[in-house]
Amino acid sequence: MVYCYQLTVLSPVFLLLLLMAASSPPRILLCGDVLGRLNQLFKRVQSVNKSTGPFDALLCVGQFFPDSADALEEVANYLDGWSPVPIPTYFIGDYGAGGSRFLSAVAELPSNKGFKNNGLEVCPNLYWLKGSGKFSLHGLSIMYLSGRQFPDMEGKGRYSRDDVDALRALAEEPGPVDIFLTNEWPSGVWNKSDLSEAPPRVPDPLGSDPVLAELALEIKPRYHIAGTKAIFFAREPYSNVDAVYATRFIGLATVGNKEKMKFIHAISPTPASTMAASEICLKQSNTTLSPYTLGDTTNNSREQTKRPANDDSENQYWRFDISKKRPRQDGVSGERLCFKYMSSGVCPQGEKCSYRHDEDAREQYHKNVCFDFLNKGKCERGPQCRFRHNLVEEGDALSKEAQGSQNGKSYRRIPEKNCWFCLSSPHVEAHLVVSIGGSYYCALAKGPLVQDHVLLIPIEHHPNTLTSSLEAEAELEKYKNALKIYFKNQEKAVVFFEWIFRSSPHTNLQAVPIPFSKASTVQKIFTFAAKKLGFEISLVAPSGDQSPDRFSLRSKFDGKSNLFYVELPDGHILSHYADDKEKFPVQFGREVLAGLLNIADRADWRNCKLSKEDELQMVENFKRGFENLDPA
Ligand SMILES: *[C@@H]1O[C@H](CO)[C@@H](O)[C@H](O)[C@H]1NC(C)=O
Ligand SMILES: *[C@@H]1O[C@H](CO)[C@@H](O)[C@H](O)[C@H]1NC(C)=O
Ligand SMILES: *[C@@H]1O[C@H](CO)[C@@H](O)[C@H](O)[C@H]1NC(C)=O
Ligand SMILES: *[C@@H]1O[C@H](CO)[C@@H](O)[C@H](O)[C@H]1NC(C)=O
Repeated sequence: MVYCYQLTVLSPVFLLLLLMAASSPPRILLCGDVLGRLNQLFKRVQSVNKSTGPFDALLCVGQFFPDSADALEEVANYLDGWSPVPIPTYFIGDYGAGGSRFLSAVAELPSNKGFKNNGLEVCPNLYWLKGSGKFSLHGLSIMYLSGRQFPDMEGKGRYSRDDVDALRALAEEPGPVDIFLTNEWPSGVWNKSDLSEAPPRVPDPLGSDPVLAELALEIKPRYHIAGTKAIFFAREPYSNVDAVYATRFIGLATVGNKEKMKFIHAISPTPASTMAASEICLKQSNTTLSPYTLGDTTNNSREQTKRPANDDSENQYWRFDISKKRPRQDGVSGERLCFKYMSSGVCPQGEKCSYRHDEDAREQYHKNVCFDFLNKGKCERGPQCRFRHNLVEEGDALSKEAQGSQNGKSYRRIPEKNCWFCLSSPHVEAHLVVSIGGSYYCALAKGPLVQDHVLLIPIEHHPNTLTSSLEAEAELEKYKNALKIYFKNQEKAVVFFEWIFRSSPHTNLQAVPIPFSKASTVQKIFTFAAKKLGFEISLVAPSGDQSPDRFSLRSKFDGKSNLFYVELPDGHILSHYADDKEKFPVQFGREVLAGLLNIADRADWRNCKLSKEDELQMVENFKRGFENLDPA
């Protein structure tokens, strides 16, 4: 089955906003290896901006720092704040001379702690995209992998397997990725290209990376940008197995290169999230087959010819064929743990998978033990790593956690650090936590839809609130009741919703207050929105059923499905089971409520970010009103 991302049209207001957004797509500049030549780069940016701008952001791939320490002064000028960075600039090439010196200081800044998928601020307007991640920039969904396969002369700048695995997990999230940034080229990207100026079709271990080809195959970005090879190459778009849109690969040359090859390139893509299905499916006549087949030996005679524009692929098995090839590259087989299995409990390869499916390891992993540590017995990040480097005994995690430390090893009490997986959800930060119970804690949402938008989150990794213990459930009910009273005092009703996505190990139940006057329309608008998007959302317990809705939902839920449910102010629950192929809009609950409240512009949490001071104020206000109700 081939599917297409669906337009999330929820209300006339929303539609209008989307149309407005669609009429002026963000304008992005891309640039290759900077090598510390910031004067030259920004001079060019300014002249391009004058002739064809204005531009919203600059994304840099390839080595950002110079080849030798002699050239560091120019970089320091900007990084130390003497010269201003003229445009919001993001880079992933965190290597080269001076790189580790500058960046280790940046990573230590208190303002750069916690999850910063949208970059650590190096100086005003300059952001380091560290490790790997996904973020939204002017509505564009951007994924990145910093570093490269080999370390630089300072022994730094190499990506880790965790970085790669995190991207593989993120690739499972619904919705197309607009831009994928890597430093190096994916191996074989020139394969199946008919361009005469295509680079030499020879293996090139130093400028191309097979892991990136695997990632591109899984992520299926609309644009893949890379540098490092010191040449410019804009490949014809290639079609993707298992997705209806094509990928454009663009390789960029080095800033200020003597050959005068193109190092800066402008694109202005409409964010996929605001495009109609029919738009995103449009293909150009020069689209080729995917270059990434990773040596598949099955009948591939039809690969020799160009794929006709609308011929959708039957060859989806490639998607899952990747991990089979990995052991050969790693030179190890069957020893390593399967990341898919670890994260979701299901691996499509089943017994054929050459990685180990180990239930015990999976359990440890979900208790926040480091993947590298489990896999290899060591982790190169040492104490810098966010995860545990010791095994947790069964049933012991909570009490140890409550004690804060054991045997001198500190267990992290701050919940958001435990959760490296909730990458697409609003980030919970320690200062937003308003109450900590035994199994759940309560935090205000970052980028709240409305004031007092609360998240109820399991303290330990738990993929949903429905299969938790009865004890935990009782505590959750207490929290929910306390919130109902809290909001009732403000003449508000509360809507709870949860999106349970099988491969995401850490859930949150969101609570959004709405005016009493809107309470009776919640059911209608959710039903309406679902219908618009082509799926059904229905009451869990039809009237007449004696058992409370949440009880029925818990007893019916198998723990394996993807499920969205919303608890209405009257206590009834609407639910929808999404099958794996379905592109369920992850922000559905929030978007619908934004429509209900006529605040469509707040549907995206990124539009609602507050300053730290405002957040602290919000927390204080909430705590003051909640104090006497807090079950913890
Ligand atoms: C780009 O142009 C706009 C207006 O045309 C201006 O406001 C902005 O400062 C310019 N940016 C750069 C980096 O030159
Ligand atoms: C690219 O093509 C060459 C020769 O046709 C092949 O050996 C290589 O495996 C291909 N690379 C990829 C990544 O498919
Ligand atoms: C592909 O075709 C389009 C229009 O048909 C053209 O604008 C574009 O330059 C072509 N791209 C390449 C890489 O040949
Ligand atoms: C490949 O498949 C085509 C039809 O799909 C068939 O005619 C051809 O014989 C097959 N070739 C090989 C080598 O299996």
